[in-house]
Amino acid sequence: MPQLSVIASRPSVLSYAGQRNGEMREMARHTMWLAGVIMGSMVFGIAAAPEQIIADRRAGFKHMGENFKAMKEAIDSGGDVAPLAVRAAEIADWAKRIPTMFPPGSDSGGGTHAKPDIWTDRAGFDQHASELQQAAAKLEQAAASGNKDAFAAQWRATGQVCGGCHKTYRYRIS
Ligand code: HEC
Repeated sequence: MPQLSVIASRPSVLSYAGQRNGEMREMARHTMWLAGVIMGSMVFGIAAAPEQIIADRRAGFKHMGENFKAMKEAIDSGGDVAPLAVRAAEIADWAKRIPTMFPPGSDSGGGTHAKPDIWTDRAGFDQHASELQQAAAKLEQAAASGNKDAFAAQWRATGQVCGGCHKTYRYRIS
């Protein structure tokens, strides 16, 4: 069951939870989000309605955008970066799921901004998702190291990967 491997492959996420008290609450929130994504995949595995998968993937990207923005705020305010490892791990998890979230037939409806190029150049699209996964894994390491400069540099590098994929595969969101 590939969905469950998402949790199994992230023992590091769980180990971060022990670091600080406040993080336990954070972790609970993240774990619930992850459980929601997993249950969502099981549901559309049966129903496979394009509107459902479009809604789910847009929610996943939106959540990633929030994680990414929270990191920017920490960078700008000079805050502690170690707690952001959990968010970086979430981005890596989501990046791994991206290729599965664009099945044939989910190219229109539901307010999607996906460009047809995703389906005509699948290898290129999946390559961008893979690059994001690698960038986010490095971001997780940088956060865990507590080194603010390294984290900020890797955050910018990761942002380039976001922009690179959007340029080719996503219509502008106005
Ligand atoms: C592999 C390509 C790819 C990468 C990498 C990628 N995105 Fe996206 N993103 C998309 C596509 C395609 C959509 C449009 C999905 C849709 O509308 O169905 C999207 C949509 C979004 C949305 C809008 C969600 C909504 O409300 O509809 C946000 C926000 C977003 N991405 C943020 C990010 C951030 C932040 C990163 C980097 C950390 C990132 N994306 C990396 C392809 C990518």
